[in-house]
Amino acid sequence: MRVSDKRIVLTGFMGVGKSTVARHLSRLTGKRHVDLDALIETSLSRSVATTIEEEGIDFFREVETERLREVLADPKFSILSLGGGTWTVERNRDLIRESGLVTVWLETTFDHCWRNIRSSRKKRPLVKNKEQTRKLFEEREKLYCLADWHFVIGSGYNSFDIAQQIVADVLLPESGKTGR
Ligand code: S3P
Repeated sequence: MRVSDKRIVLTGFMGVGKSTVARHLSRLTGKRHVDLDALIETSLSRSVATTIEEEGIDFFREVETERLREVLADPKFSILSLGGGTWTVERNRDLIRESGLVTVWLETTFDHCWRNIRSSRKKRPLVKNKEQTRKLFEEREKLYCLADWHFVIGSGYNSFDIAQQIVADVLLPESGKTGR
């Protein structure tokens, strides 16, 4: 499939499925994918959860911005899945925009994310309980909303469908659409 050379960033709340959609996108397009949390874990030789628990969230955010800066400067990575908080930090949004990447928000309901958070084995130290997590979700929506493109993950869609939709709308050169 001949796709445009645009580089894509996937953002969205914890549990929405950013890494899974990114992996499908990578398979569909042949573009290389990198997951920011995985990169942070490799660079620190410990999990994101342990880093936040032991060093605090401010330290984690500093490292996150540094790894983001590096990966944005590396043209071999064309698909980047962020952590749920990366895009909510203004300096990260500025870096992404300055690097000219196309931003895609995977939008869904809180209940969808909550189900995935509950069933996942990934430890998420920022998740304390359902009501606090719902509040975080609601606070962040207005920031995710700033992304160039929004793709809604509804009940009838799976991550492969969404990846196909992103390819068709964002990456196929004949797509004349401009976002949202
Ligand atoms: C975070 C989301 C996590 C991870 C860290 C902080 C957040 O990634 O980066 O625990 O602030 O929402 P996922 O979105 O993959 O869970």
